[in-house]
Amino acid sequence: MTVRVGFIGTGGIATSHLLNLASIEDAEVVALCDIAPNRVEEAREYVNRNILTRSEAEGVEPRLIEAATYTDYRQMIRNERLDAVYICLPPFAHGDPEHAALDANLHMLVEKPVALDLRVANDILRRINEQGVIATAGYQLRYMGFIDKAIELLRNTVIGQTIVLRFTRTPGTSWYHRQDRSGGMMIEMATHQVDLLRFLVGEIRKVYAAAATRINNLDNPEYDIFDVNSSTFTFDNGAVCSFAINFLTGPSGLPDLRGVHIFCKDYILSMDISLKVRRGDDVEEFGLEHDPMLEEDKAFIEAVKTSNPAILRSDYLSAVRTLAVTIANDRSARSGMPVDVNELLRAEAPQAAW
Ligand SMILES: NC(=O)c1ccc[n+]([C@@H]2O[C@H](COP(=O)([O-])OP(=O)(O)OC[C@H]3O[C@@H](n4cnc5c(N)ncnc54)[C@H](O)[C@@H]3O)[C@@H](O)[C@H]2O)c1
Repeated sequence: MTVRVGFIGTGGIATSHLLNLASIEDAEVVALCDIAPNRVEEAREYVNRNILTRSEAEGVEPRLIEAATYTDYRQMIRNERLDAVYICLPPFAHGDPEHAALDANLHMLVEKPVALDLRVANDILRRINEQGVIATAGYQLRYMGFIDKAIELLRNTVIGQTIVLRFTRTPGTSWYHRQDRSGGMMIEMATHQVDLLRFLVGEIRKVYAAAATRINNLDNPEYDIFDVNSSTFTFDNGAVCSFAINFLTGPSGLPDLRGVHIFCKDYILSMDISLKVRRGDDVEEFGLEHDPMLEEDKAFIEAVKTSNPAILRSDYLSAVRTLAVTIANDRSARSGMPVDVNELLRAEAPQAAW
């Protein structure tokens, strides 16, 4: 079976998935949709140019994207015989596109964050569960080559503390600096590190955050997301976490910095694009091995082809729980009070409460 795929949203991240799908035998991209017609054409041209360069270098026949194009996803879903959709939309645009895909019983890969509102995500999750479609989210860090090693090491020790650092600049996409469009740096970007902590360390119980908009708004009055954030998380298993992120490397000219450090009884794990395991003076390093997003795409296509969601490392339920942690962070930063993640889920996304 070839998995017939349509895209809703053909901006930056969609082109990465499109390039990956072109190298996956069992996938066929049959339709592309974006409300901005130029984005569809730009995406197709960019991806096909890259496919040609890649296939020339590899000496293989190019599999160019020859998909039908649409500006209305409902029309695309009606007209095309699809098995699955990739939903690659800005955070604020989720909800109706997922319901349109569910109306047609389509499997879906939804880019993170899966929504900005837990109630929107809850309604989608309920239908995913009722209909039994395969739904995964774009948390590709779970597919990094060294993750199995980290899981193995963490299974047999006691985790004390985790430290997460993410210092970068505000991405250039038009919607990014608006709270009601992107959700801000924790909900939109550091969601990857929150998700990785949940995958490796365990469920996050409580979130206490301090955040502010300090610098990026000085020359842009429309900039209303936080640009500095310091949080404390507690885990169900008793471990604690310090989580510091900012969007200040742009104005300062500092290089970006990111890392997840996990301090255990027997060793310290530090990961970014490699995993370093420190025991006393001894440091062992494990590499990324392969492109994690390609692995994610391969897993999704295989899961749909074989009707086996068990091979996926991230499902929609888990993505809703990650969203809840990041929304809890935002609420805590605004109220000055700690937020219990499971209480938030019970109130706004009971389908995902544990
Ligand atoms: N997994 C990752 O590492 C990763 C990396 C980058 C972006 N992302 C996520 O992917 C999502 C999209 O980001 P991006 O950088 O591609 O944004 P983008 O702005 O480049 O692309 C989004 C596209 O969606 C289109 N769109 C908006 N509403 C639509 C609608 N109703 N129907 C059809 N098309 C519509 C826009 O015209 C735009 O072309 C974001 O949630 C982002 O967080 C994930």
